[in-house]
Amino acid sequence: MKTHDPIAPLLEGARLVVCCGPGGVGKTTTAAALGLRAALMGRKVIVLTIDPARRLANSLGLEELSNQPQRIDLAENLETVPESVGEGELWAMMLDQKKTLDDLVKKHAPDPGAFERAQANNIYRLLSSTLHGMQEYMALDKLHDLYTGGYFDLVVLDTPPTKNALEFLETPTRAATFFDERIIKWFIPSRRSRSLFGRVLDPGSVVQKLLKTIFGEAFVKDLSEFFETLEFLQQALQSRGEMIDYILRDEQTHFFVITSADPRRMKEALFFHEKLGELSQKAEAFVINRVIPNFEAADLEVANEARLKEFAGEDAPDEELAALSSELSKAYEALSRLARRDRDALEGLARKIGPELMQRVPMLGQDVHSIEQLLSLSGYLTPSRPVEL
Ligand SMILES: Nc1ncnc2c1ncn2[C@@H]1O[C@H](COP(=O)(O)OP(=O)(O)OP(=O)(O)O)[C@@H](O)[C@H]1O
Ligand SMILES: [Mg+2]
Repeated sequence: MKTHDPIAPLLEGARLVVCCGPGGVGKTTTAAALGLRAALMGRKVIVLTIDPARRLANSLGLEELSNQPQRIDLAENLETVPESVGEGELWAMMLDQKKTLDDLVKKHAPDPGAFERAQANNIYRLLSSTLHGMQEYMALDKLHDLYTGGYFDLVVLDTPPTKNALEFLETPTRAATFFDERIIKWFIPSRRSRSLFGRVLDPGSVVQKLLKTIFGEAFVKDLSEFFETLEFLQQALQSRGEMIDYILRDEQTHFFVITSADPRRMKEALFFHEKLGELSQKAEAFVINRVIPNFEAADLEVANEARLKEFAGEDAPDEELAALSSELSKAYEALSRLARRDRDALEGLARKIGPELMQRVPMLGQDVHSIEQLLSLSGYLTPSRPVEL
């Protein structure tokens, strides 16, 4: 049997890996495991997550992550660090959307007071944390900094939890970026809306007088200050947009779709695949996570007396052992049905996208909360020897 590994060759040369896919399937965990694997290949890797549930921190065995890159001490967390690590390093950070925007405003503020004015602005405060698409935008902005910063060889980008896959990809995009076009319109107004900006900014204009009458002085002050902030951000964001577009289209950028074998998730994953195609991108690997290993209930020694007694105790009466045996048979039967369902789903996927893109990762007995567990997960993602599920 040949080792099937569509992922490791990509990790060797990638500068950016984007992990996308339906909600709750293991994107964050997979991003961390891929990051670890690449670090052990000798690369300087940062895993950037937008996961508000702090699962990346958890799976790295940390309490929390901040908006600053944080290095994970591999020697401290692994029993043995393979020699292949060489100069390799693993870093992680969690996106703080508001802080990222603040930093951006601070950096581009034309005068020292501009940042303070933005901070005090009600509209800015509201939009910086709630506007749909802002999170994606800020993630891409951070990505830009990490990618161009010169320190890291590889950025692994985890994508945010979405109610369903469609929501994230349906965020309208400019070319291949995950920008929200509505945001772009705010930041990079068309000629017509720019003139509206201009009129709002002009204290003597009819537009401003009208707005003051309708919404009151304070609101209009907030609004015009907000537009002022946008004015000086415009140029910076536009040039970044172009750079990010370039990064996402680079041949060292790879999109991995993470899914589970659950039919609904599978459908969403295929939707991602199609959508990436429409954006002239392609998914270069499909990770099917938490696959139930293939087994038949009948093959398991459910009724083995010694094992039953381990559960029920040495002195358990025969009726109790019989009841336990029947419960176990039912549970095994249910699990083997799920295993068959997973196998069928995998076969269906293989017919659609081809088996060479697919990598399966089995359902582990527990959640992934340590670097050691990530290492065993990465053994399935990039197996060094033949693995049969
Ligand atoms: N192969 C696996 N076996 C067992 N548990 C797993 C496996 N992969 C991931 N998990 C667990 O599943 C849970 C969900 O994983 P994770 O947070 O990575 O999903 P996600 O796709 O990032 O979710 P969200 O869309 O909410 O961000 C976590 O508790 C994780 O430890
Ligand atoms: Mg996640």
